Amino acid sequence: MEVVIVPDARAGGELIAEAMAQLLRRKPDALLGVATGSTPLPVYQALAAKVAAGTVDTARTRVAQLDEYVGLPADHPESYRSVLAREVLAPLGIAKAAFLGPDGSAEDVRAACTGYDAALAAAGGVDLQLLGIGTDGHIGFNEPCSSLASRTRIKTLTEQTREDNARFFGGDVDQVPYHVITQGIGTILEARHLVLLATGEGKADAVAATVEGPLAAVCPASALQLHPHATVVVDEPAAAKLKLAGYFRHAYAHKPDWQGL
Ligand code: GLP
Repeated sequence: MEVVIVPDARAGGELIAEAMAQLLRRKPDALLGVATGSTPLPVYQALAAKVAAGTVDTARTRVAQLDEYVGLPADHPESYRSVLAREVLAPLGIAKAAFLGPDGSAEDVRAACTGYDAALAAAGGVDLQLLGIGTDGHIGFNEPCSSLASRTRIKTLTEQTREDNARFFGGDVDQVPYHVITQGIGTILEARHLVLLATGEGKADAVAATVEGPLAAVCPASALQLHPHATVVVDEPAAAKLKLAGYFRHAYAHKPDWQGL
């Protein structure tokens, strides 16, 4: 995988937004896989600025959801469908009709999961999947020891993840659902390009395990080691525990421009 160390979150957002913009110029109906959480916000802000400036056109862009809470009505403000409508679709001027996501309030959750995998395949697959990372190394909501071959399915959150996400529910952990639907690790690995953004010192251990640790289900993000085109973008605090940071900086500084991200 490629590791790019950037000065701060804003620079990471700009770098990834430019990669998305280049993809959309090449393939205007690309399917962008998007993530929730605080980390990807600078990406969406930088891409929205490009749309506003007219340097990228999202008229045909499609967007796919990574994961969802089970049991929250779709119109709950913290359902990931609502969050993405607010943070991605609206600022990028993308219609809800161009959005793909699993129904977390479905009565038959299993059918919602297999149906979502089928919908992604029918849509031609995800072109670029943006990922954040949990403090325990989770991607999407694939908690530690998720199968590296998993498909979209229901998972139970760790208490750590529920506590981490309580801030979106007024700080009340009791409001955070126990169950979620998440694209499986096998599903995520089918995207053509994986881009993981991690910022802040709280992510430094998870980043080191992802990039330099063994390929292991205990650190779900380490599955990126299996992908032929995976890019990990980290700010300085998140890069603090990388032993090979010097090499990563050197490689990126000498990267041919034509390669892009
Ligand atoms: C949630 C999401 C993940 C995200 C993670 C980290 O658990 N399901 O996709 O990567 O939070 O969030 P943050 O970026 O806010 O640290």
